[in-house]
Amino acid sequence: MASFDAIIIGGGPGGYVCAIRAAQLGLNVAVVEGRGTLGGTCLNVGCIPSKALLNATHHLHEVHENFEKMGLMGGAPTVDWLKMQAYKSDVVSGNTKGIEFLFKKNKVTWLKGWATIPAPGKVQVGDEVHDAKNIVIATGSEPSSLPGVTVDETIVVTSTGALTLPSIPKSMVVIGAGVIGLEMGSVYARLGTQVTVVEYLDAITPGMDAEVAKALQKILTKQGLKFILGAAVQGVETSASGAKITYKLKKNDTEASLDAEVVLVATGRKPYIAGLGLEALGVEILPRGQVKTDAHYQTNIKGLYAIGDAIVGPMLAHKAEDEGMALAEILAGKAGHVNYGVIPGVVYTTPEVASVGATEEQLKEQGRAYKVGKFSFMGNARAKAVFQGDGFVKILADKATDRILGAHIVGPAAGDLIHEVCVAMEFGASAQDLAMTCHAHPTYSEAVREAALACGDGAIHA
Ligand code: NAI
Repeated sequence: MASFDAIIIGGGPGGYVCAIRAAQLGLNVAVVEGRGTLGGTCLNVGCIPSKALLNATHHLHEVHENFEKMGLMGGAPTVDWLKMQAYKSDVVSGNTKGIEFLFKKNKVTWLKGWATIPAPGKVQVGDEVHDAKNIVIATGSEPSSLPGVTVDETIVVTSTGALTLPSIPKSMVVIGAGVIGLEMGSVYARLGTQVTVVEYLDAITPGMDAEVAKALQKILTKQGLKFILGAAVQGVETSASGAKITYKLKKNDTEASLDAEVVLVATGRKPYIAGLGLEALGVEILPRGQVKTDAHYQTNIKGLYAIGDAIVGPMLAHKAEDEGMALAEILAGKAGHVNYGVIPGVVYTTPEVASVGATEEQLKEQGRAYKVGKFSFMGNARAKAVFQGDGFVKILADKATDRILGAHIVGPAAGDLIHEVCVAMEFGASAQDLAMTCHAHPTYSEAVREAALACGDGAIHA
């Protein structure tokens, strides 16, 4: 048994960042993690392994699509799936070991095992009960289930199973056109799988700016993904050869079905808080399963906090990290703060999609007077040189003050480009501030500047 200033339950992006920051601020910190490695879902079976597969298959796509155009002859390489999987695993283990190193460097104790909270101020791991002045729930989320669909992680898989399929399937039905569905759908489409995405709503990427969603759908369709929108999946039946997916079209209530070798269920995630003992403690849980917290991440139990996917807000690793840092500062007596108005969202397809702040639909709903500055990557020399002219940057600014309210990008390196708008928004910048900032030529970022110029007197290359 030991005593800590803070015990953080969960070693994912929320938990490990909170621990490192708290240790840097002088607290004696432990993290409880039962998985054999640190990094949580994101690092082990989420963001990072998927990025490895997206990277490998992106290069394959480039070979097929663009190599000949550049005079690079010789045909496409064959895919060694096992080797690609090994590359993915190496990327993951390099990163998980990196966190272990950071724990040692910052003197964060790793308590290996699964935690329960038998009483306020107590955390049990195995047979040991530890004392903690503060306890942080950073246990993340798990795939939510879909009625009529049983996940076996072989034929019917979640994102976890989709990362480790034993072979490349001939056909795949993806249920849900959200981030996971589109990223993993892209991976397999590039590997030659016939991918069909079935989505309940009438558009892909729920919550994203509608114009961006439409453009992305067009681009992904060109890449070979098929979309069935406005269709609610009713059930999945499996057999030795694969699965039959039945769905109902909302517009006319007709039922139809599809056959596929593999089904990826990507219909959202839910907080993972089972087994902690929260019910017995009387911790308030919201109707959608999240732990209720106040503005300082404290639950209704004094000294018990929660961050990341386990609480309200977008289920994003970087949102959890920011909350982890803010909470560490609060626990150390400082003023931790997260600006929820400036949290970027990125989809790592090719091209990438990135978004921050309000969408045009939200501004309309709020009845806010706004202006739109849009610039196509067709007018960006660098993007054209690498066959990435599809897509655009769209900046939304307040009509009267010119203050930037949101930005939406579909195009090359969108996930990196969005951050100059994030910084601008943090500083309360106007579109003109961005437009008057010198941008190096030739870079993709010039498209962001051009969109900002389009909010004023006009873009140059449009
Ligand atoms: P999501 O919430 O992004 O999308 C789920 C989609 O499934 C929605 O469009 C929904 O309308 C649809 N759906 C639900 N029930 C359906 C049914 N019966 N039939 C047809 N469609 C149905 O969820 P997703 O993609 O599973 O991702 C889970 C979480 O993980 C999200 O919060 C996401 O932000 C996060 N994530 C983020 C990544 C990133 O930032 N790049 C990568 C992967 C995941």
